[in-house]
Amino acid sequence: MPGYEVIGSEELAEVQDVFGHGGVLFRHGFDALRNNCYKVREFEQAFAQTMGVNHALAVNSGTAALRVALAALGIGPGDEVITQSFTFVATVESVIEARATPVCADIDTTLNLDPADLERRITPRTKAVIVVHMLGTPAHLLEIIEICRRHNLYLIEDTAWGCGGRLNDKPLGTWGDIGTFSFDFAKTMTTGEGGMLVFRDEEVYHRASAWHDHGHENNPAVPRWEDTRASSGFNYRMMELQGAVGLAQLRKLPAVVATQRENKAALWQAIADLPGVEPRTVPEGSYETADAMIFLVKDNTTARLCREALLQAGLATKILPEAFTWHFAGTWHHMPELVSSHGGDLSSAFATSHAILSRAVSLPVVVRMAAADPAKARSAIGEVLSA
Ligand SMILES: Cc1ncc(COP(=O)(O)O)c(C=O)c1O
Repeated sequence: MPGYEVIGSEELAEVQDVFGHGGVLFRHGFDALRNNCYKVREFEQAFAQTMGVNHALAVNSGTAALRVALAALGIGPGDEVITQSFTFVATVESVIEARATPVCADIDTTLNLDPADLERRITPRTKAVIVVHMLGTPAHLLEIIEICRRHNLYLIEDTAWGCGGRLNDKPLGTWGDIGTFSFDFAKTMTTGEGGMLVFRDEEVYHRASAWHDHGHENNPAVPRWEDTRASSGFNYRMMELQGAVGLAQLRKLPAVVATQRENKAALWQAIADLPGVEPRTVPEGSYETADAMIFLVKDNTTARLCREALLQAGLATKILPEAFTWHFAGTWHHMPELVSSHGGDLSSAFATSHAILSRAVSLPVVVRMAAADPAKARSAIGEVLSA
């Protein structure tokens, strides 16, 4: 959660640097004015280095990152894309925007894509899978990668919540064909609004780079106004001030994640022995970003009572249970494209996911956690569970 908690003089210095070098806010060109200051370019290079990949592309939101990823992989009308029923609406919206068909699969107790249900929902029209590492916990990636390999499907990792996380020491976002990231204001690192893509394949990177910039190939042999192009595209460019903030935030990412992990562990230790508390499943080898501490209780009534007790104690919940309808596909009746790919009725389409999510409680994990919070959480939740 807390990129915004640690915004300070480092971000300000990077922004001032843009103005100190001439104030060019556009990522391309204006070479004579900008005195060699290219913040978005620098941010992309630093992000790629952090992730251990050759290519990263900055965009103006995590939603845009997903849309660009689908375009770069050539996904469009007639193609089905499978994602998970517990995610933010943006994941499915990006598929709808690509004029492809969104299909959701159930989650398992990782609260991410259930590999078995994913495989059941594959058809001859399926082209890609978008796995989401919801709230910073990795999905069962090894199993999902194997299914994608067997069925010849592209894998996109929606790493909106997983920036700085790893599985078996390999960064989340770098396991699939493309990893997408969000830097909106609620994420582990933030540029206010913003996003990033990382790529396995250089050619896919070049297609994405052009597509997010009206098809511009940024051909060094010609000026930008005479630039070459092979396809149309759109404008999803990041601007220099976001790149500047991103550079400072990226340097803080390891410390933010390490502190979140400590704070999450303290919260979990405080409640782990309470009767009726079940932990979220975490795949072996995970290094979670620990954006939230999620546990399961016996039913939805109990989950809601836990939230009320936490609020009364001056604490909060995050997404579950209160923002359920923005994050559970079974409630997205406003998306006709999704409704029709699930037989015209979403209400019972994801019964397994519903059964898990409706009894889940998610506590926000922050960097500047008050020392008394774990004990307060224990007392609030303990009172509900012992009633
Ligand atoms: C799983 C997931 N994917 C994508 C997004 C979209 O990111 P953005 O808000 O940067 O567009 C979000 C935002 O919360 C998200 O939670």
